[in-house]
Amino acid sequence: MNVIDHVRLSESGERLVILDQSELPNRKIYLELESAEAMYEAIKALRVRGAPAIGIFAGFAMYVLALRMPERPEFDAEFRKAAEYLNSSRPTAVNLSWALKRMIKVLENNKKAAKAELLPLLRNEAQAILDEDIAMCRAISEYGMSLLKPGDGVLTHCNAGPLATSRYGTAIGPILLAKEKGIEVHAFADETRPLLQGARLTSFELHEAGVDVTLICDNMASIVMKSGKVQYCFVGCDRVAANGDTANKIGTSGVAILAKHYGIPFYVLGPSSTVDLNTPTGTDIVIEERDGDEIRSKWYSEPMAPEGVKCYNPAFDVTDHTLITGIITEKGICREPYTESLKNLFR
Ligand code: MRU
Repeated sequence: MNVIDHVRLSESGERLVILDQSELPNRKIYLELESAEAMYEAIKALRVRGAPAIGIFAGFAMYVLALRMPERPEFDAEFRKAAEYLNSSRPTAVNLSWALKRMIKVLENNKKAAKAELLPLLRNEAQAILDEDIAMCRAISEYGMSLLKPGDGVLTHCNAGPLATSRYGTAIGPILLAKEKGIEVHAFADETRPLLQGARLTSFELHEAGVDVTLICDNMASIVMKSGKVQYCFVGCDRVAANGDTANKIGTSGVAILAKHYGIPFYVLGPSSTVDLNTPTGTDIVIEERDGDEIRSKWYSEPMAPEGVKCYNPAFDVTDHTLITGIITEKGICREPYTESLKNLFR
């Protein structure tokens, strides 16, 4: 696999480097970030995106910000304030608050440490979040691949590949791993309106890896499923509630409903960092709403809707757990009843 370290520290270790995903696939632009404002903007504008990647970003971001903070005890208040600020950038993916809490825990576990002693611990924690994600994605990919046989078709929505994580990804991981092992699987990538993560990122990643991938518009999933070319739907997740209800990119629940209609197994793939047992059901998940211009005009040379027309632009939806065949995690595949199976694996 072509490895891109798209979230990392700069060579000096003093700045956060990201590949700007909002410019892909046409331009590979790396940004160096050092202020909280630039980091907030990078998450908000989806320059870094995908639930696990946002968590990895948050870990290194807090370390970079910590370098510029005063000595303790002022350090602690500033650190918490910066974490709160970054956490307010996007509400749905739990990985953001999960990673920020891990970084704060380093402070709490080392109350007496001076700033100079704390910094390497913070850097290690950020690195651990990244390293764990690499291992989790690999394990998820193995479990997902174990379901596949040569010639299968897999439909995916949005982007849950290496760019959304560290390596391999979650929903795309089994397809990439299968390719590496010489198992030919055909992928269908939903383009994923309105921000086109499927077209810009998923088809890019799979195409670069030499996978047989076909890009379709979101409204073509039904005809493709009906044709018998799809044996599995694999999607990522931004937050899995305790009962298995799952938030993922807008349109995912529609894919699940279609899959049920056509009798196609629908799997959610995600690491434990995306499982949130403190959120009882999908109705408790906050869904991010974004600017209507992403629908009205963003990709067009001139606006494609009347100026000022009302838009509704939720970035995610929740797939009811009854539509999910299984949730593939690094610890194994959870099945109904999810309240029990998730608790058994993650409590
Ligand atoms: O708005 P995005 O692009 O951050 O949404 C990403 C998704 O919905 C992914 O499917 C999800 O984060 C899982 S990534 C492994």
